[in-house]
Amino acid sequence: MPENKSIYSDRMLSLGLARVSEQAAIACARLVGSGDEKAADQAAVDAMRSQLNKLDISGRIVIGEGERDEAPMLYIGEEVGNGTGPEVDIALDPLEGTTLAAKDMPNALAVIAMGPRGSMLHAPDTYMEKLAIGPGYAPDVVTLDMTPTQRVIALANAKKCSPSEVMICVLERPRHEEMIRELRETGARIRLITDGDVAGIIHCAESEKTGIDMYMGQGGAPEGVLAAAALKCMGGQMYGKLIFRNDDERGRAAKTGITDLDKVYSLHQLVSDDVIFAATGVTDGSVVSGARLVGDYLETETLLMRSRTGSVRRLFYRQRNQ
Ligand code: FBP
Repeated sequence: MPENKSIYSDRMLSLGLARVSEQAAIACARLVGSGDEKAADQAAVDAMRSQLNKLDISGRIVIGEGERDEAPMLYIGEEVGNGTGPEVDIALDPLEGTTLAAKDMPNALAVIAMGPRGSMLHAPDTYMEKLAIGPGYAPDVVTLDMTPTQRVIALANAKKCSPSEVMICVLERPRHEEMIRELRETGARIRLITDGDVAGIIHCAESEKTGIDMYMGQGGAPEGVLAAAALKCMGGQMYGKLIFRNDDERGRAAKTGITDLDKVYSLHQLVSDDVIFAATGVTDGSVVSGARLVGDYLETETLLMRSRTGSVRRLFYRQRNQ
């Protein structure tokens, strides 16, 4: 087979990427509601890896299942693809929201993003302070420097509405109690989610459908890069600041080449080049429906997007259940 290392055609690769997330979602669908997080995650990982290795790419995982000594498959730095195509970086989470899937709660997704080498921040496995809004606002209308109250007021002014008409999505965690209290004092409303902040951030880009205007709070840094890849395609603004709780986490940053530990990353610094993004529903959610068995067929819905053109497709897929 001829080598074709230099050409990165996001158009040609996008359908291949949808196949990868579809198969991950299908593989763990039978474990939805089983209570077995590990088995569901493993099924998604195995399927995603085997599909990725069919693609004509020389892929390198930059956001994956963990560092090599922690994750036997899809670890950071693992080479994937059949090695015949362009050199690409890949960020993935085969099952984003393992607990959501195990408990059959909304918005568990199989997620993957791909772009040219160096296109996505090699975020360490730490927390990230995140702030996101959808498209249509002036640049920097809300920033991480602002207090939660200032963000609500600024967004309400930009939307020309009262704070009570601003809906903010927040992960329900003890670390967010003080922020939630402050947000409620402004009159803003809060959609609390138990997990799955990639979906939480994507919701901001479709606020007319989801009712969510803004996302804020601390979640996983790898998920932050995946969410940024989605917003880069859909439009919107996002900021992320890595949070380091101890020397081990600072060491993880050093390994990924991050030296400025206080940097606030904008959306276009989290994802600095054009990417393709695919997310297939594992459980039902506001973004996509979950994978399901209908008669003799397995069905999925996938959000497939390219940042170069801002194209957004919702792909319905079905395959015979074998
Ligand atoms: P998993 O899919 O790894 O379970 O992550 C789910 C998630 O809710 C992410 O969406 C979020 O960024 C992170 O966990 C939050 O971490 P924590 O549960 O430690 O608050």
